[in-house]
Parts: sequence; structure tokens; C-alpha cells
Amino acid sequence: MYPQIFSAAKEVDQAFLIILGFAVFILVAVTVAMLYFLWRYDHKRNPHATDIKGSVWLEIIWTVLPTIIVLGLFWTGWTSFKAMRTIPEGAMTVSVEGRMWSWRFTYENGRTSNELVIPVNTPVRLALASRDVIHSFYVPAMRVKWDLVPGMETDAWLQSDTLGDYDIFCAEYCGLKHADMITLLRVLDQEEFDAWLAEGGADEGEDVGLALLKEFGCFDCHSMDLSEDAAPSLLDLGGREQTVVLPDGTEKTIRPDADFIRQSVREPGATLVKGWGDEMPPYGDELSDAQLDAMIAYLLKPDRPDKGQALADELGCLGCHTTDGTDDVGPSFLGLYGSERKGKTADGKPYDLKADDAYLRRAIVEPSANVPEGFDDAMPIYDDLDQATLDQLLGYLKSLAGEGGQ
Ligand code: CUA
Repeated sequence: MYPQIFSAAKEVDQAFLIILGFAVFILVAVTVAMLYFLWRYDHKRNPHATDIKGSVWLEIIWTVLPTIIVLGLFWTGWTSFKAMRTIPEGAMTVSVEGRMWSWRFTYENGRTSNELVIPVNTPVRLALASRDVIHSFYVPAMRVKWDLVPGMETDAWLQSDTLGDYDIFCAEYCGLKHADMITLLRVLDQEEFDAWLAEGGADEGEDVGLALLKEFGCFDCHSMDLSEDAAPSLLDLGGREQTVVLPDGTEKTIRPDADFIRQSVREPGATLVKGWGDEMPPYGDELSDAQLDAMIAYLLKPDRPDKGQALADELGCLGCHTTDGTDDVGPSFLGLYGSERKGKTADGKPYDLKADDAYLRRAIVEPSANVPEGFDDAMPIYDDLDQATLDQLLGYLKSLAGEGGQ
């Protein structure tokens, strides 16, 4: 069992243990009595059955005793239920919104997050609402599980006396990615919490658009690499052509632009990417135009390192090049950009070059031209990559540049 970090959880555990204790006691008592009767009244010891007409005392005992036991069990359950349902006066309220398949938490000052962050030793009331189907907000460490029902405002509360991170699950099957509807409950001390609450949504140095995409749970369905299991990938959205199905059923090949993305978020069912169903819930007034624009700007930004990384993975570069500084079949990507490289050209002449844009571009398109010292001429030629792809790979290598880079 998880350790108890919530006072009301103690009552739940107590009810559980009392009920379990009685169940085990009754199981043992019935089994022992049954075995005793088997032995005591077998044919050898009791050749003639006795016809018993009735016993008032026995009937009283087996009516009254179970009634007392059942009422006692009800009482322990009722008191723990009441503890879970009695929300303390002055508890801080956090709105919890569940949707297929993400969680979003909104604080009283307007701060939003995709993780539930709370201060230690403070009662927190959770106002639960669903945008689509029934979900269930479940924190095993708190013994809290409560349904989010569309069109109905429900609530729950919790309080932690221990700092730390705890799992939050969805405990009601809600479709394809139900199992991925997980996030964290983070318990901070009051000071850290106040600082967190006051700051904006993005981590330091993080792109606002990226922070919003995370916060709104976009990545719960859309990937940023080329894997697509629940929804189209968001990788290199502006750079890849997509076939879409227009409302009248005709197909069209487009390169997603800001207008297309905007419509796909506000009215996902209007124009569908071919091969995908109308499953995405529309995002209405919970997402402002400014927020949507920031997301779009991030998605359409041409040289994002994460795009390059996904491409490097997709093209198999990471099979031979590590990103942790250890050389494998090829030199590690970490610190490669901007470093000094010695080696031999294809016709055997030694060279001494800085790994800059031009050098690295050539190393991808024509690897045999400059083979660095200590490595074999083993890299396959990638001369079929277009300029945009090369730019992204270079952007990625730059993001891993060492001291001499940038
Ligand atoms: Cu939401 Cu399962």
C-alpha cells in the first residue's frame, strides 16, 4: 500500500483493514466449523441423524450478530466517506478539467498547468469538470478517486503532509488513449508553491508556444516525431505536405499554414487529415487567440532543434552518432558543431578544419570527402535530403555544440 500522506486517507485505510479483518475472521470461523462438523458428525461417530425442530437462541444469535457486524462495517465506511467528503472551510480551489486524453488545472489567479501543483499541509478543493466523456480523477497515494461527469460539477478534496511527486491517473475507461491520461501531483512547500503560482506557464527559456502545447495536453495525442498512433504528428508541420479531406468530401494536398492549424484547433471536424477520424475535441474559449497564435508560431518555426532531433532519429543518424559525447561508429553529436576536426580527404590528403555549417553539410551529403581521424569511411551518403531537412539537422547539431560552437 502507498504510505499515508493525507489524513482522510487514514480513515479509508482503517475502513479497509477493519472490513478485511472481519472478512478473514468469518472465512476462518466458517471453514473451521465446517471441518469440525465433517469430523464430528461423520457416519462412524453419528450413525443416526437427529431431527432438530429449531432453536430460538441460535436464531437470535445468527440474526443479531451479523446485523451488528454489518452495521459496524457500514459505520467505518460511512465515517471514512464523510472525512473524504467534508471539504474544510477556506480550502483553496483548483479547477480540474478532464478531456480525451489530458488533464488541465486552473488556479484562482488564472495560472494554468498540466500538472497539479499544491502546497504542503493545505487543504485543496478540486472542482471537477469534463469536456467530453466520463473520466475519473484518481490519486492512489491520497485514496482519492472521483468521477468527472460531463454537464455536472463534482468535487473532491485532498491535502498532503509530505512533499513529493505522486501519480494521477484516469480511472474510467475513456477511449483509445485512456491509459496515457496520466500526470503528476507535485507537493511543494508554501514558499516554492507561491513562487510557482506567481510565475507564468513556461519554464525558464522555454518557448511560450511549446509550453502551451504541453499545458493543453496536445502531446497526449500528437507526437513531435513521426510516430502517429492517435493523431497526426506535429513534426515539421509547415514543411510536410498533407492530404486533407474537405467538408464536401474532396481531397486536396496542402502544406499546413497558420489558418489551417487555427481551424483544426477551433473546428477539428471541418477539414480532416486523410486517414484520421473526427475525434479531436474542439478547443473553444478556454484557449485564447493569443495563446493559439503562440502555439502556431512554435509549430511553424523553421529550425527548431526538436524537429532536427526527430529527423536525425528518423534518418537513422542516432544509430551511429551518440548525443552524450562518446564516439561510436561515428563521432558523437555532442560538441561536434564548431569543434576542430582532423582527417583525410577522399584522395588521402590530410585536412584540419573547423566543423562549421559548410563542413557538416558536406559531411552529410558526401561523407567520404572528409573522413575524420579515427573513424572508418562507413557513413552512407545522404544526398537525397532537401535543403530544409539539412537546415533542421544543422540546427539540431548546433543545439548540441560544445564550447567552441555557436
Ligand atoms: Cu479519461 Cu480514462
